[in-house]
Amino acid sequence: MTLNGYCRFLTICTLIFPKTLCFLPKQQRVLLLSFDGFRWDYIYKFPTPSFHDIIKNGVHVEQITNVFITKTYPNHYTMVTGLYAESHGIIANEMYDPVLNETFSMNHMTIYNSKFWEDAYPVWITNQMQGHRSGAAMWPGTDVQIHGAFPTYYMHYNESVSFEDRVAKLIEWFISEESINLGLLYWEQPDEKGHLWGPNNPRMKAVIAEIDELLDYLVQELKKAKLWDTLNVIITSDHGMAQSSADRIIELDQYVDKDLYTMIDHSPDVAILPVEGQLDAVFSALVKAHPHMTVYKKEDIPYRLHYRHSSRIQPILAVADEGWEILQNRSDHFELGNHGYDNILPDMHPIFLAHGPAFRKNVSKQTMESTDLYPLLCYLLGIEPLPNNGSLEHVKDLLVSAAPKEPLDRHQEESYAYYSGIVLGSILVLGFLVMFVKHLTRSQVSAMWIQNTEIAQPLLQS
Ligand SMILES: *[C@@H]1O[C@H](CO)[C@@H](O)[C@H](O)[C@H]1NC(C)=O
Ligand SMILES: *[C@@H]1O[C@H](CO)[C@@H](O)[C@H](O)[C@H]1NC(C)=O
Ligand SMILES: *[C@@H]1O[C@H](CO)[C@@H](O)[C@H](O)[C@H]1NC(C)=O
Ligand SMILES: *[C@@H]1O[C@H](CO)[C@@H](O)[C@H](O)[C@H]1NC(C)=O
Ligand SMILES: *[C@@H]1O[C@H](CO)[C@@H](O)[C@H](O)[C@H]1NC(C)=O
Ligand SMILES: [Zn+2]
Repeated sequence: MTLNGYCRFLTICTLIFPKTLCFLPKQQRVLLLSFDGFRWDYIYKFPTPSFHDIIKNGVHVEQITNVFITKTYPNHYTMVTGLYAESHGIIANEMYDPVLNETFSMNHMTIYNSKFWEDAYPVWITNQMQGHRSGAAMWPGTDVQIHGAFPTYYMHYNESVSFEDRVAKLIEWFISEESINLGLLYWEQPDEKGHLWGPNNPRMKAVIAEIDELLDYLVQELKKAKLWDTLNVIITSDHGMAQSSADRIIELDQYVDKDLYTMIDHSPDVAILPVEGQLDAVFSALVKAHPHMTVYKKEDIPYRLHYRHSSRIQPILAVADEGWEILQNRSDHFELGNHGYDNILPDMHPIFLAHGPAFRKNVSKQTMESTDLYPLLCYLLGIEPLPNNGSLEHVKDLLVSAAPKEPLDRHQEESYAYYSGIVLGSILVLGFLVMFVKHLTRSQVSAMWIQNTEIAQPLLQS
């Protein structure tokens, strides 16, 4: 190596050594799995050995505080953006955007309208923009073109595709030559059965047992593919489920003429668009109508719900108390289980467990915000997160890299990492100085001065 070469190498090393060794996590892989409507306490109510196995060998957050409204699309988009619904724009499963003059509805396949999704960039796009590949099996939104992009690999949404087929695809993408570092997996149960029968129905035991078997199937397949020990697997959900009843129905037709408004989103969060000029009439007819219905004008929706700043949130919002339904009248369809209620209610909260090289073992904590999942994902993937409403600090205590020397003290952690970086860096510098001096004693002094002027420029630039 020439003198010039030594100096360049030395400079590069001292610049990057402490950082690479001590601050940045090794780039890791993540599989994120959502079982729609898996309430946090199902694992205590029903036998679930596969879930409990993972808890013993990984981390468990008892209850996730998800975002309002506690419905499927808003919460799945929060998990992959770290944003409240008002900021990512998917504020409900049924929406009307007065600026676009367009609707979004699961029943009419208008969910493929990209514009509704483009207030945010989901993690799969950010991952790809930072040089990686993502794969998605039916995760809501992953077969929609968003800002011109799809996941690197994805499946078109088709409810009939089995869990086994979804898992097979993801494993294929994880082990392929052009492999993914981020996989997203979605499964429709236990949400559908929870709606149909209600969470208190004894038949839910069999539904949850089946999910426990699916989870075991996933673990076995990952083991067969030699992925289980190297992959970080996060198992979570979008929301919980509450028991409804024909005895707890609020009929709007009893209080206000249905010609005065359009119902955009449905029970238990009724988004009301009044006819031009009728806002106050509709609001005053409803505001004190029923003791189990809270009615807000958009600008008065409580701050803690973070549900105001979007043109898709309608001028009036009526929210039912847990277990109550708001219908136009009794002949409207309703189901024995529902969700969408205030995100402060434990029955609305999802489950969270994780297993893998990045996660500690047999560690439990009470709660986290679902917005914290996104910064956690970005940290695990080694990518730079976009601005969001979560915080990695809230979930660092789940990670091996920040295993607390009790009590958890982040500054101590960082300074430890920093000083070990300094020490290792200094050893390297000393080593090169020794070689440098050896080199000098062998070279002619005059030659060195010529070299030195040449290398002055690149050193200054680096
Ligand atoms: C909104 O779109 C509908 C058709 O979807 C149309 O009839 C209506 O005139 C539009 N309204 C405005 C204000 O552009
Ligand atoms: C959905 O998946 C099922 C099962 O794999 C298949 O039979 C069916 O053709 C698929 N439907 C569409 C529209 O692709
Ligand atoms: C109930 O509402 C539906 C529309 O939501 C309407 O078609 C039906 O006539 C109403 N029934 C009664 C009894 O008012
Ligand atoms: C897991 O943690 C609990 C309490 O935190 C402890 O009682 C139990 O022995 C631990 N199990 C293992 C296998 O370390
Ligand atoms: C959530 O994050 C977005 C993006 O940084 C920001 O614009 C918004 O104000 C945040 N919301 C709250 C309530 O802090
Ligand atoms: Zn649902």
